[in-house]
Amino acid sequence: MPNQKRRREDRIISKCLFPAAGYGTRFLPATKATPKEMLPILTKPLIQYGIEEALEAGIHTMAIVTGRGKRAIEDHFDISYELENQIHGTAKEHLLDDIVSLRQACTFSYTRQKEMKGLGHAILTGETLIGDEPFAVVLADDLCTHSEDGVLSQMLSIYQKYQCSIIAIEEVPPAQTSRYGIIAGEPLAGEEGLYRVDDMVEKPDPQDAPSTMAIIGRYILTPDIFDILRETPPGRGGEIQITDALLTQAKAGNVLALKFKGRRFDCGCVDGFVEATNYFYQHTTPSTKEGL
Ligand code: UTP
Repeated sequence: MPNQKRRREDRIISKCLFPAAGYGTRFLPATKATPKEMLPILTKPLIQYGIEEALEAGIHTMAIVTGRGKRAIEDHFDISYELENQIHGTAKEHLLDDIVSLRQACTFSYTRQKEMKGLGHAILTGETLIGDEPFAVVLADDLCTHSEDGVLSQMLSIYQKYQCSIIAIEEVPPAQTSRYGIIAGEPLAGEEGLYRVDDMVEKPDPQDAPSTMAIIGRYILTPDIFDILRETPPGRGGEIQITDALLTQAKAGNVLALKFKGRRFDCGCVDGFVEATNYFYQHTTPSTKEGL
């Protein structure tokens, strides 16, 4: 079928969207003038870890949804002539190696969410950067580590096989269901840790939760999500919830949930942020520590 247009879901994933417009109120006053996504775990800002994970998955086009007071994100991924010139040829030059390599390997585009109407609304705001193709979404405040493939890589392998929306999930203690979107689903035969989602509820109280399988900040979304989001009314907290839009896809059998291999830190709250900092400090090699 050489001249027949491929189904739009069949295309490879070449773009990753980073909703980064939220106010980060749990980190006030630190986030009053500094984006939450720029808070560092050791010497690297949270969003850089997310970009590295996307790049590791073979994605080179980064689309970032920012908002007022978030310009530091754009500056971080841009050239800093004065600084780079200043440390060129000194013992500190290597400290910029990672960010320079990222800048060379990726393209970055930005759009602003003018009113913070929730994650679903932020993703819809990103449509102008994504267009009519399937795409990945990374919430940088969920920091993921792994021993082999990154979480996004694991999800891309599933997408290539099933060509539908994929969400990453993990088991949480029953008392914590009210912090997450919680799914109900049937395990897929022969696929370890993969579920066909049939229901999801945003932040349910433990007694109302359909399971303890919580959605974390990694998604592969098919582009029909944009039309669904346009029709999705504000849900819990008066915000447009991505969970509500995903439920529409799930009811049509088009959402899979993957219990990923690896560990996630909730860096959107102080406890998780400190835990991640300690973990990364302990797992940093002595030679890298010297450079801290
Ligand atoms: P969170 O609810 O965890 O982030 O949103 P927040 O609102 O920034 O933080 P708190 O609760 O006030 O402390 C999850 C992700 O969605 C983005 C956030 O930037 C974060 O990456 N987000 C959320 C948006 O981009 N726009 C929004 O309107 C809401």
